[in-house]
Amino acid sequence: MLDHKNLHMSNPFREDLVARSRPESCTVVIFGATGDLTHRKLVPAIYNLKLDGELPPDVKIIGFARREKSDEEFREGLEELNKQVSRGGHDETLWTDFAPSISYHQSTFTDIEGYQSLAKTLDKIDEERGGKGNRLFYVASAPEFFDDILENLKKAGLNESAEGCWSRVIVEKPFGTDLPTAQHLNQVVNETFEEKDTYRIDHYLGKETAQNIMVLRFANSIFEPLWNNRYIEQVQITCAEHLGMEGGRGGYYDKSGALRDMVQNHLLQLLSLVAMEPPTDLSADGVRDEKVKVIRSLRQYDTPELVRENVVRGQYTEGFVGGQKVAGYREEDRVNPESQTEAYVALKIQIDTWRWSGVPFFMRVGKRLPKKATEISIHFKEAPNVLFNALPGATPGGNVLVIRIQPDEGISLRMVSKLPGTSLRLEPVKMDFHYATSFGKGSPEAYERLLLDAMAGDATLFARRDEVEEAWKFVDHIENAWHKSENPPEMAEFEAGSWGPKEADELLGDYKWRRL
Ligand code: BG6
Repeated sequence: MLDHKNLHMSNPFREDLVARSRPESCTVVIFGATGDLTHRKLVPAIYNLKLDGELPPDVKIIGFARREKSDEEFREGLEELNKQVSRGGHDETLWTDFAPSISYHQSTFTDIEGYQSLAKTLDKIDEERGGKGNRLFYVASAPEFFDDILENLKKAGLNESAEGCWSRVIVEKPFGTDLPTAQHLNQVVNETFEEKDTYRIDHYLGKETAQNIMVLRFANSIFEPLWNNRYIEQVQITCAEHLGMEGGRGGYYDKSGALRDMVQNHLLQLLSLVAMEPPTDLSADGVRDEKVKVIRSLRQYDTPELVRENVVRGQYTEGFVGGQKVAGYREEDRVNPESQTEAYVALKIQIDTWRWSGVPFFMRVGKRLPKKATEISIHFKEAPNVLFNALPGATPGGNVLVIRIQPDEGISLRMVSKLPGTSLRLEPVKMDFHYATSFGKGSPEAYERLLLDAMAGDATLFARRDEVEEAWKFVDHIENAWHKSENPPEMAEFEAGSWGPKEADELLGDYKWRRL
């Protein structure tokens, strides 16, 4: 059994983080507090931090939203959901202790008086806390209100902090819908908060295994020498979801599509962690400087022909997922029956750097695929086939390193071995590491880690302005080819519950998508 505690402490990355970041007491104000995110993710995350003894003392939560609600009603709704979703379970005694720290502030997002009265409430809390006035504003409303919220925070002076205290803002996705809207939002944010106090959240960066990519690469000496185009043949990133447009999600999704919803943010972030150069240090900017270089080096698909060659978009038709019959994308609730929005996208990405020149990165993401699974697989080149090529049966194939982001977080390495027996036969085998069994405990939810980091002033796992904008540049070319060109690349179809359209298989040429 691994000694989990000591392993952490002897890990140089961890030590640095521990030394650098101490979460501080604060008041968290959540805009859009009646929404799903607050109920399913944010408050359960804060509750679980408390459960694990990681929450700084005296953290207060204020939910800010339009609907009429008393504190009591707000807390009851949160408790209801916490019972269903809390990672560590729901403890009545702990909740009774936790609930009084939550209150509700009713106001529209456009009404400046709502912010002025919020300021008074915050001052009162600070007084009770002995003058310590740290504030964390979490903008989790519908995106059309982001500007109003930021501007009103500024008008009410809430972007300023008292001597020795801080005011920070976390901005939820979607961070714009294209480059101009992202630039506009960045401008509004930067007029209100300094970049160092701005936390653009991408919850994939908070996932345990995503964080482990850097550790795997840079705290082990055996991978990095091979981590380049001399030894790596291709890389695949898959993010599959079995769900469709349940719970009215079609309303948002049909305006967004897979490329904007997942690739622009989560998947390009994962890609940049896999492909980045070693940072000079672990500071937020040290890491983000290297990540942004990757995104800047993506080959741009700036003509419809290039998009047709390198990107496949698709929609699912009726089919079966988990034994249940499900509707096709265009028949889904709140989806336009003539929708031209992709619920699946596959890309062949080229990173034009010295390290990666000639190595394709294949990426696929979609709804209504057979199961929920996110993984990155690094496919190494085959060993020179001079010794074993005369053996009967299949060629041994290359090594494959798989980083399972979720579920069953872990890492496996495919190797070739001799099959036991009197004759010489080769078989692939797997070395497999599972977080849950190796460390004896599950991973925290992404939002737990990220909220704690924001309370500690550590922006390493949040997207910087230039990362977001560079990612939009790449995505916008593809969106333009699909929606603004005269000869747009076709929309492929696949049966719900299958692994995507045949065009996505063809995109890989001689390679094959890894079977998950
Ligand atoms: C969100 C997307 O950002 O991530 C959703 O908007 C998607 O469409 C979700 O379902 C997936 O997150 P996770 O953590 O469940 O993989």
